[in-house]
Amino acid sequence: MSIHCTLAGIGRYAPDKILSNSDLEKLVDTTDEWIVTRTGIRERRIADEGMTTADMAAKASAMAIENAGFTPEDITHILLATLTPDSAVPPGATSLALRLGIKHIAAMDVNAACSGFLYCLDLARAITHMDSDAKVLVTASDTLSHRTNWDDRTTCILFGDASGSAVVTADQGPGKGGRVLDIMLSSDPAWGPMLTVHGGYSGHPYKKGQPIDDEYFIQMQGREVYKHAVRSMTAISLELLARNGYTPDDVDVLVPHQANVRIIEAVGKKIGVPREQVFVNADRYGNTSAASAPLAMSEAYDTGFIKPGHLVLMTTFGGGFTWGSALVRF
Ligand code: UT7
Repeated sequence: MSIHCTLAGIGRYAPDKILSNSDLEKLVDTTDEWIVTRTGIRERRIADEGMTTADMAAKASAMAIENAGFTPEDITHILLATLTPDSAVPPGATSLALRLGIKHIAAMDVNAACSGFLYCLDLARAITHMDSDAKVLVTASDTLSHRTNWDDRTTCILFGDASGSAVVTADQGPGKGGRVLDIMLSSDPAWGPMLTVHGGYSGHPYKKGQPIDDEYFIQMQGREVYKHAVRSMTAISLELLARNGYTPDDVDVLVPHQANVRIIEAVGKKIGVPREQVFVNADRYGNTSAASAPLAMSEAYDTGFIKPGHLVLMTTFGGGFTWGSALVRF
């Protein structure tokens, strides 16, 4: 039997600065028409100079904590999903704790690339099962603009900066916030080289005086990632539905990772969720990495796309490869 937990509050943040497709036309050899046709993305948000992953995470977290009716002092654990922490040490989660004015609690980073939010949510499910008083702050935040090669037209058109957050408590029963019914996670290291950021890590260490090369930025075999993203998110979503006794007809809203509108539409079609029940905001934010799923969920909820009582299927895919799905009853 699956262990449930509750999303007591959710929140999001995206920087004000907009980078449109026509702005990108001035940076690289691309067109608005190509970007919209191939990705559905029209604009993305970019963090201002000096704004960090933890700065954005603090804003999304504050919203989630307030929506849960808690104060930062109530939080017992911080899990930060990110591949772009402010620094390796101190960890991003303690940088976030500093901004929230929280200390003396467990705080750690989790890197599962774009799937990080669901990975952290599953950990929060375990923590709240062990400790029924736990109030786990699960925040996903990435400033991929810092790891984007702005000379590479195959990647720089895709990504944006944002944060999404949820406060997770032990199961409060039906009708209290979002009830997480089940989560499935997976990975396949064989495909690691398809999507990488190597530079500055032990496989490609920084050496003083050496120039920062392309390895420091996102490198991606887009076609391969695309195929696997569609296959993996579809397969794990169908498996998750089946093991909980649901069919695609039971799903009210699909909230997929917002990498590319073509991927989103293909996943919806293959799972069997009608297009009008699939939430899309990639057109306005691009691919915001780990933040993508909670950013979409929070916006879908606040705009009434997700309504109380809805069965929501979330699914994510990212570098590693890593992927996952979650079922939430709002
Ligand atoms: O978060 C999870 C990770 N990310 C993803 O899930 C992204 C997955 N991949 C994708 O979304 C798509 O593969 C892309 C949007 C990255 C690329 O779309 P595509 O339809 O797979 O295009 P392609 O890579 O096969 O490139 C087609 C052509 C190429 O030219 P040639 O070789 O046919 O002459 C590219 O050089 O389009 C060219 N191209 C561009 N042209 C104008 C690539 N990028 C651009 C660009 N503007 N920005």
